[in-house]
Amino acid sequence: MPDFGHNESSLIIDDKDSGIFRIHRTAFVDREIFERERAQVFDKSWLFAGHTSEFPNPGDFITRSVAGRPLILVRSDDGEVRVLLNTCRHRGNLVCREAKGSGAEVFRCFYLGWIYNTRGELKGIPGEEAYSEAFDRDSLGLEPVPAMHNHRGCVFVSFDPDMEDFETYMADALPVLDNTLNLGDMEFVEGHFKYSMRANWKLLVENSMDGYHGAFTHERFFTHFMPDMGLPSIAMRPPTEEGNAPVFGDVRPLGNGHVTTGYPTTSGRGRAATSYLEKYAGPALETYRKMLADRHGPDKAKMIEGGAGNYLIFPNLLIIDGWFVFRTFYPSSPDYMEINGWACMPKEDSPELRKARLDWYLGFQGPGGFATPDDVEGLEGCQMGFATHKEVEWSDISRDMKSKPTGLGELQMRVFWREWQSRMTTGQHALSTGD
Ligand code: FES
Ligand SMILES: [Fe+2]
Repeated sequence: MPDFGHNESSLIIDDKDSGIFRIHRTAFVDREIFERERAQVFDKSWLFAGHTSEFPNPGDFITRSVAGRPLILVRSDDGEVRVLLNTCRHRGNLVCREAKGSGAEVFRCFYLGWIYNTRGELKGIPGEEAYSEAFDRDSLGLEPVPAMHNHRGCVFVSFDPDMEDFETYMADALPVLDNTLNLGDMEFVEGHFKYSMRANWKLLVENSMDGYHGAFTHERFFTHFMPDMGLPSIAMRPPTEEGNAPVFGDVRPLGNGHVTTGYPTTSGRGRAATSYLEKYAGPALETYRKMLADRHGPDKAKMIEGGAGNYLIFPNLLIIDGWFVFRTFYPSSPDYMEINGWACMPKEDSPELRKARLDWYLGFQGPGGFATPDDVEGLEGCQMGFATHKEVEWSDISRDMKSKPTGLGELQMRVFWREWQSRMTTGQHALSTGD
């Protein structure tokens, strides 16, 4: 019987000799574990907050909640990217209440009218003469996040002022992210998805890297829609066959809990989108491919176009290369999370190529697409099932533990869980996350 207290090590069975890996289901329902996750995982990681293309010009801003904190991501008047905590230094109100805007010169708190410039400095207080000499206006600017790093437009933040540096944290995930960003001058396409699920956030980590469920949960897409469109059905190909879609490529731990279901390769393996783009944007795709080859050389261009399958930057940034997706999610309770999904695409796209990319993205990942509603249904069903966690205690994540790992197995989930367990119990990265 597991310890229902704080001993997370008892929540995982990791038996490498016999090839058995199990998670105790309290990990998905327990409030104390959830609070500990907030402190040990979310408050001590580099977390993806947004992309600079969402606020390209001075005075542009977006607001977004990251790890429960309301943030303002702003391009200040000096051109700097800043991430400020969205709370008034007077009595706490949200200073900016809009989701997005441009041309801002100041942020004015609607409650009692304090005014901050786009660098976060406090610039105006109605009735300022009522304050004593000890009142120091300069020390009362909007507080920046404790740590921020802008990697090629990807803005990461940390709420740990002593956070290890970004490159060290990213480990072997950095070249994989760079491979994604090498698709071009990348932008987040206007209009991202915000949705929620009544499910534990770790279920979506698992699901977002899970090749196994595709043929079942998304049977209509893979078995019917793709052949009906005259496209090869990704899920029907055996996992070891060369030329497979990247979701069935080699699974690789990337250090510190990061993991990919398909490491970028120059072998010419296409990404999931390739056959669709070839069919619906053939000439435009050829022009784009030529640009990519001119810029990077033919081998690297193939690697960039092939992409990396689905990969996790621990704890909660999922990049789904085959569909050009960036996805984050934050729990507000053990059984509820809010999700952001963005399409990240090259600005170099011609209108035809962009249309085809977006059709592919929306058809599968959109709110009315073939995948997202199915996944919501699947994960909420798991959470409902966890109501029996006292009687049925363990979930199984053992696939491929004694055989060659593929995207149809579950190594990618074990990597996540091993880092999770290490963070929860020791506060340190796992020494090793592979089998
Ligand atoms: S809380 Fe913002 S001005 Fe008072
Ligand atoms: Fe899915």
